[in-house]
Amino acid sequence: MKSGIGRLITLEGIDGSGKSTALPHIASRLGEELPDRRLVLSAEPTKGPVGRIIRSNLSGTPTSGSPHEQPACIQKACYRQAQAAARMNELFLFFADHAQHLASTIIPALEDGAIILCDRYADSTAAYQGVTLREVLPDPVAWIQSILLPWNRPPDMTLLFLIDPRAAMQRMQSRSGREKFERLEFLQSVDENFRRMAAAEPKRFVLIDAEKEERRVAQDAVEAILRRLSL
Ligand code: TYD
Repeated sequence: MKSGIGRLITLEGIDGSGKSTALPHIASRLGEELPDRRLVLSAEPTKGPVGRIIRSNLSGTPTSGSPHEQPACIQKACYRQAQAAARMNELFLFFADHAQHLASTIIPALEDGAIILCDRYADSTAAYQGVTLREVLPDPVAWIQSILLPWNRPPDMTLLFLIDPRAAMQRMQSRSGREKFERLEFLQSVDENFRRMAAAEPKRFVLIDAEKEERRVAQDAVEAILRRLSL
């Protein structure tokens, strides 16, 4: 049964910012506060067919490129072109995964009046591929945002988990199975993109101090959600 207008809340931040750890705590607190609302938890990359391809490409040792960016050609110009194509390929996989996610999960759940908590969404594509495509496109963040504009469903609210990239790298040191984006300089650039995007849309973004203790972070997030969305 529908119990209100559906809302889309996204969680964003660099790798190691703790949003995935906070998500179940936020969900359980929200569930207590809003017992009549249906909560849907989701994430990008998704667990769907395209999301699985993306995840298998992401796993492996951190490098400056992806495991698929090893063109056979060794001449500089040819190498650069092949690398640019591989990075565009990765961007289009994220777009495809997002499109499928919208059609199969996000839009139906909103239509049903659910509150969706989504761990990463289109802002991650702008922030991360905005870095990988720096040498391919003149203004990749704006370009990616313009491609998304006609078909994306913007979040009602975005919680941006902020942490010093050095502290995030330290947190990740203890994890096994590092992914390719987990490098300091890369995360510093992603962090800059996120901060610029938040400054451009202060009504949608809420900044969360992710360096606080785990429970405090989840509590701040829940309070911000209840306050901003008047749920
Ligand atoms: P995720 O599993 O959420 O990583 P974590 O739990 O460490 O935050 O996401 C996997 C990686 O994919 C992460 O490094 C961010 C990256 N990513 C993009 O580069 N573009 C995107 O559009 C999305 C959704 C994620």
